[in-house]
Amino acid sequence: MLVAPSVLSADFGNLQRDVEAICSAGCDLVHVDVMDGHFVPNLTIGPVVVSAIAACATKPLDVHLMVENNTFFVDLFAPLKPEYISFHIEEEKHPHRLIQKIRSLGIKPAIVLNPHTPPEAIEYLLQDLDMVLLMSVNPGFGGQSFIESVIPKAKKLDEMRKRLNPNCLIEVDGGVSDKNIHLLKDVGVDIVVAGSYVFNHKDKKEAIASLKI
Ligand code: DX5
Ligand code: ZN
Repeated sequence: MLVAPSVLSADFGNLQRDVEAICSAGCDLVHVDVMDGHFVPNLTIGPVVVSAIAACATKPLDVHLMVENNTFFVDLFAPLKPEYISFHIEEEKHPHRLIQKIRSLGIKPAIVLNPHTPPEAIEYLLQDLDMVLLMSVNPGFGGQSFIESVIPKAKKLDEMRKRLNPNCLIEVDGGVSDKNIHLLKDVGVDIVVAGSYVFNHKDKKEAIASLKI
C-alpha cells in the first residue's frame, strides 16, 4: 500500500516542518486538497502556497481538485509539475478533453468519484487514466468518518480495471486509518490518503508504517 498524507491536516503555521516530517517519515506522495468554496463548502490553498509545499517536499505531489472550473485550475497548478492531478467527474462536462490536456502537460491524469457516484460513470474513461480516486467521505473537510460502501465499490472498480486498464491505480481518500486499512487492501486499493490519522499521531513514521501493509 502506498500512503499519501493530506496536508489539509498539517499545522499551516509550520507547513515546511510538517511537509518535511511526512516526507522523512516515509510517505509516497504528498496529497494536496484544492477547494474553491463552490464545488465544496470550504476554501483551501492556491498555487502560491502549493509552490511553497513543492519546494520543501521530497516526494511527488498528488493534487486533488475540488473545484468548479477544472481547466482553469489545471492551468494554475500544472507549472508546479505534480505527479497527479485529479478532478471530480461530477463537475466535468468534457472529461476526455481534460484528461488529454493533463497528459499533454506531462502530468498523470486521475478522476475522483464522490461516495454516491458509481464506478460505471467512468467505464469509458478508465482506459485513459493513471489513477481513480474514490472518496470515502463527502469532500470538503478532514477528520470525517469513513463511509463503508467504498469497500464494495473499490472491489467493483478493481474488477473493471483488471479488464480495461490493469495499470490504473485505485486511491481512497477520507477517514482512512489502521481500522480500515486491511479492508481496503483486501479489495485491491493501491494508495490511501490519510490526513487526520497521520497528523494527529505523535509519531508520523509509526502512523505511515501502520498503513503500509
Ligand atoms: C477531504 C479531502 C481529504 C481529507 C482527508 O475532502 O479530500 O484529502 O483531507 O482527511 P482525513 O484523512 O482526515 O479524512
Ligand atoms: Zn483529498
